[in-house]
Amino acid sequence: MNEKDLIDIASAVKLNAYAPYSNFCVGAALRTEKGTIYSGCNVENVAYPEGTCAEAGAIASMVAAGETKIVELVVIADSKKPVVPCGGCRQKIAEFACQNVTIILATTSGLIRRTSLEQLLPGAFDKSFIKP
Ligand code: THU
Repeated sequence: MNEKDLIDIASAVKLNAYAPYSNFCVGAALRTEKGTIYSGCNVENVAYPEGTCAEAGAIASMVAAGETKIVELVVIADSKKPVVPCGGCRQKIAEFACQNVTIILATTSGLIRRTSLEQLLPGAFDKSFIKP
């Protein structure tokens, strides 16, 4: 399972996105430390705040299967430039990211941006703040 395979999986799940309000379909696929792949798409709702992002779907699927360690994550959309995770999803990714997690942001036209959690969420709120 290489980067292209993960991009292909994210691209495939994007086809199932439910985005009748924004018409912006997003797919996410992640690889865990065990090598398992989980994917998700955005699922919107007529009550707009109830919609969920693709990353949140992939993470929920991973946790439901009993895993919690992400080593690689792809997000793909049909955008001009590689789509970035929203603020809330950056925090969700941070919760489960292994050190040096690779985050790959892609467009359906083939643009790819590789980034890190440190770049996306510098100064993150983490458990060190709530544990004595
Ligand atoms: N969206 C995602 O699923 N992931 C992102 O990284 C950015 C935004 C979704 C949320 C909403 O359904 C649509 O894209 C437009 O904001």
